[in-house]
Amino acid sequence: MSMANPHPALPDPDPAEREVSEQVEARVREAIVRAGGAISFDRYMAIALYEPGMGYYAGGRRKFGAAGDFVTAPELSPLFGACVAAQIARWLPALAPCIWEFGAGSGELAAQILSELDALGHDTVEYRIIELSAELRARQQATLAATHPHALERVQWLAALPDRIDGIVLANELLDALPVELFSMENGALRERVVELAPALADDVPRGSRQHVGVDGPPLASGLRLGARAPDAAFARRVQARLARAGWPDTPPLGAYHSEIGEQASAWVSSVAERLGTGVMLLIDYGFPAAEFYHPARASGTLNCHYRHRSHADPLWSPGLCDITAHVDFSAVHDAATATGLTCLGYGAQSAFLLGCGLAELFSQRASSADPAARIRAAQALQLLVSEAEMGELFKVIAFGSDPACEPLLLNGRDRRAVLIA
Ligand SMILES: C[S@@+](CC[C@H](N)C(=O)[O-])C[C@H]1O[C@@H](n2cnc3c(N)ncnc32)[C@H](O)[C@@H]1O
Repeated sequence: MSMANPHPALPDPDPAEREVSEQVEARVREAIVRAGGAISFDRYMAIALYEPGMGYYAGGRRKFGAAGDFVTAPELSPLFGACVAAQIARWLPALAPCIWEFGAGSGELAAQILSELDALGHDTVEYRIIELSAELRARQQATLAATHPHALERVQWLAALPDRIDGIVLANELLDALPVELFSMENGALRERVVELAPALADDVPRGSRQHVGVDGPPLASGLRLGARAPDAAFARRVQARLARAGWPDTPPLGAYHSEIGEQASAWVSSVAERLGTGVMLLIDYGFPAAEFYHPARASGTLNCHYRHRSHADPLWSPGLCDITAHVDFSAVHDAATATGLTCLGYGAQSAFLLGCGLAELFSQRASSADPAARIRAAQALQLLVSEAEMGELFKVIAFGSDPACEPLLLNGRDRRAVLIA
């Protein structure tokens, strides 16, 4: 059902990609029809990203790196993994020697950490990867076999959360990939933004089961569109809780305001935190505290999509071919983890974390042996990781420990956890 590309700035998907996207879209349409005319946005995002065998993360498409759709920090520079390993090495003496990485992508970060820890003398550390996607599991295995084969016997893949976790939990750019719900507020009136069929297809929905769904956007060529419906009581409570946490004024801002709630990210943090026996949790992602996330001036929210290194704002375009993400509300992450009894060990910008872990020293030690062109490329990658205009400030690092006496997060004297407690 995918028709002409309505976004000429985006490259045209090739015929094989179109076929995959059509299958994903058919799955979305079935779900809409079954639901009586509309599905919540998090349901749509779950299908588009994770539908077995065809969703963006579950299909065979190459996602990470130059040949994919976006680049993550471990793909940019091995020094990212070296810094994470330096932090982990500070925690290891007091903990079970096991790292639990969730959503390990291409496996680069696992390979970097294992190799760095070996060099630091931690060569018996076990590594567990919890990965939903069979395709990514295979890719992670291939990366480790190619880069650090003798560590493979210490790596295990799990398809589900274990009952108890001891050691170090790690997730880089996982929370931003979890489905979000969307809301809009127009002059104080709250609506839930949903995915529904564009008019030409709406006759698929059995008449008796149609719900009233208002429209807040033009129909898209894909056959799906974003609509809006009156929120049910639970949805309204979830939105009100986020806005209250953000310190929204009693009189809501005038005009249209769109944003997201990352309930699944909070649920993920709670369920992992509840299983953490003796250990720490280290999370890295882009986002802000609630007051910044829901700032009245951020009226378009943070939802964003990636396709072949272009970012775009149409989550309904070519489902299954694009990454769909939202920024992380770190106040919600903090509240979910501390509610289970964990202590926050620090929160700060990625630049502060990497510099605190010795990035500058690692660069001068390792780059001196590289040829000039490689040195320039390595320096450019680090610039992306630490520059305030790139990933250095938007990306944040947060850690929690089961024991308040755990070593604090290395943040180069720039710990900002106070903003999450306010
Ligand atoms: C944006 S990618 C990040 C990849 C990688 N961490 C990196 O830095 O390159 C998100 C990853 O999270 C995985 N994922 C999503 N939900 C998950 C869950 N509940 N448990 C484990 N992995 C999950 C996806 O399959 C994907 O590998």
